[in-house]
Formats: sequence, C-alpha cells, structure tokens
Amino acid sequence: MRFLIIGGIAVSIDAVSYTFLVNAGFFSPQWAKRISFVLGAIWAFFMNKFYTFSQKDLRASEPLVFAVVYFIGWALNSACHDIVLDLTGYKSFAFLCATGLSTCTNFIGQKWIVFRQSHKHPVPANTGQDTNFPHKGSGMLFNIAKNSAFLQNMAIWMHSSIHPSIEHNLGKLSMIKKAMFHCELEQVPGSYFEFGIFEGTSLKSAVKMHRKLRSQINRNFYGFDAFEGFKYFDDRDKHPFFKEGDFKSTYGKVKNRFRNYRNVKLIKGYFEETINGKTVKAICGTDDKCAICFVDCDLSSPAYIALKFIQPALQAGSIIILDDYWAYKGSPSEGTCGALSRLLAENPSLKVREFYRYGHGGCSFVVTNV
Ligand SMILES: C[S@@+](CC[C@H](N)C(=O)[O-])C[C@H]1O[C@@H](n2cnc3c(N)ncnc32)[C@H](O)[C@@H]1O
Repeated sequence: MRFLIIGGIAVSIDAVSYTFLVNAGFFSPQWAKRISFVLGAIWAFFMNKFYTFSQKDLRASEPLVFAVVYFIGWALNSACHDIVLDLTGYKSFAFLCATGLSTCTNFIGQKWIVFRQSHKHPVPANTGQDTNFPHKGSGMLFNIAKNSAFLQNMAIWMHSSIHPSIEHNLGKLSMIKKAMFHCELEQVPGSYFEFGIFEGTSLKSAVKMHRKLRSQINRNFYGFDAFEGFKYFDDRDKHPFFKEGDFKSTYGKVKNRFRNYRNVKLIKGYFEETINGKTVKAICGTDDKCAICFVDCDLSSPAYIALKFIQPALQAGSIIILDDYWAYKGSPSEGTCGALSRLLAENPSLKVREFYRYGHGGCSFVVTNV
C-alpha cells in the first residue's frame, strides 16, 4: 500500500513539474519530461527507502541500482503501452496495462534488489545459522514470496478462484490414472466398471488411459447410468446437494461420445431396476472380472446395489473407487462409505486396504482378499 501511495505521488510530481517546466518556458517538452521523470524518481527513491521498506543505512550502490530498476520499469512501461495500444486500440487500457506492469516490476526490483531485506537482517557470521533453513533449496523465489504480502495475496486470489469442483474432477482423473496404472503394473486382468457416468467424462478418461498405456490386457469399459439424474429409492438417501433430478444427461449424446470405441458398453437405467440382484454375465454378456470399479452415484442405496453386483467379479488387486466418501456429514453408515461397510460386513472374507484419496472427498481401496 505504501509503495502504491509513494508511486502515486511520484507520478503526480512528474506531472505537476512537467506542466510547470513547460508552461514556464524554461525547457522544451522533451527536456521537461526527462527532468520531471527524474524528480519523481528521486522522490520515489528516498520515500521507498526510508518509509516503504524502512531502511536506515544508505549504500553507495543503491541510487545506481535504483536508477537501473526504474529505467527497466520505464522501458517495459513504454513497450507494453505501445504493444497493447497496437493490439486493442484502447488508449486508457494501454495506459493501465503499462502502469500495472511497471508498478509490479518496480516493486519487485526495489523490494528484492535495491532495498533487499537481507541487509536489514543479516545472517550472523560464523554461527552457521541460515534464516532460510527450512526452505534452503527453494532459494530466491521462496524469499520473494515469504516477504511479500502482495504476492501471497495474489496466490490466495488465484487459488481461491479455482472452484473446488474443478480440483475434485481433476483429482478424479488422476485417481483413474493411478488405478489404471496399478492394474497394468500388477497385471490385474478384467474390465472397468463405472456406476454413475453422467456425461461420460471419467469413463472416457479411463478408456483413453488404457490406450495411452498400450496395455496388452484386453479390457471392456462398462458405464451404468439412468441418465435421468438422482432419484431417491430410499428416503435415507436424501441429501442437500445430490437432489432428485440433478445430474441429468442424455443417453444418445453420451453414446455418441463413445461411437468409436467398440470396447465401451453403456447400460441405461436406474440400478434398482437394471442390475439389482443380477450377475455381470446376465447384464454384460461376458464373465468379465473386475479390474476397476468406480462408484460415482453418491447415494447409499444405488452404491450398495452396484457393489453387490460387482462383488463376485472382484479379485485380489481390483481397485474400488468411491466418490463422495465423506458425504452425509462423514457418517460411516451412509453414502458410498456406508455401502462399502455394508458389503464388507456381509462378506467377511472380502478384505480391502486403502489405496489413495483424491480431490475433495474421494477415496479408493485395493482388494486384498475375496
Ligand atoms: C456425479 S455424476 C457422475 C459423474 C461422472 N462419473 C464423471 O465424473 O464424469 C452421478 C451420476 O450418477 C447417476 N445416478 C445416481 N443415482 C443413480 C441410480 N440410482 N441409478 C442409475 N444412475 C444413478 C446420475 O444419473 C449421475 O449421472
């Protein structure tokens, strides 16, 4: 803030002295501009040194380094102004971009080059202490970030601008990648089963990953969904975010998305009506084992039906991915977590071990015994 105030006053000194020198007739506009610019710079040098960055000692090299930094800022300002004006044709926008850029470069240059903090708090000689010890390797960048509330605020702004659902969905894709890679390394045979595919994005990422891995294992990719959104078959499934009718998609569109993949099969309908009490053979037409089972239908009742359906196809090494594992306020007997607990309780020989957590609330398990 201090830096911006001092900068603003420097610009005013520049403007006022320029107007005065030109109108008084002492100098040509070109010379008046050079002098007024230097007057503003002198003000900025002393005020930033003693006020903004609170430094007491004046080093001989400082004015020179300051002049170089200021000159670079000025050159970038001019170049940015001309380029933006050329591209957009808007004078005030070009002025704003140029001023923004030179303000940033001036600030960085003054804070970390001209008036750098290490002179304020030197590391005591031969004590072996290093004030940056925990972050030794990250060097200058860390020091810059550590001392700048401005940069930290920028980082906070950028980080908070990314919606958690984006982070979650990217985490989901990474999770599928890990599971596919695991099944490749461990040579887990069988297919990929996804319960709740919505528009087919995560299903597609699994298919793509399989191709990229150039796997020698033949896998089918089964996508199960009603394409009608959530529906409460059990009142205990009610949830403020997974509302009835939400996440509706169009079967035809999703089918079209996979038109070039012969190993992808979509099974349309509510699990309660399609797979409940059925076998994989009856629904998929093959006795496929399960390499990966991804349960992304969030509610406990369809999640349990999906897990019960896939249970005979599980094998050591199969991966079970459960989305929204901590939903229903973390209740261990509800949502996808509750569905797995119930399956495990009903099948004592079935053992799983936590594999990875992902995104905001996803969790996966590797089957260790069936
Ligand atoms: C969160 S979305 C799936 C997102 C998808 N896996 C992705 O990441 O691209 C949840 C899906 O589960 C489906 N679904 C929820 N309950 C279902 C049920 N009882 N039977 C069938 N599908 C269901 C919804 O239709 C919705 O498409």
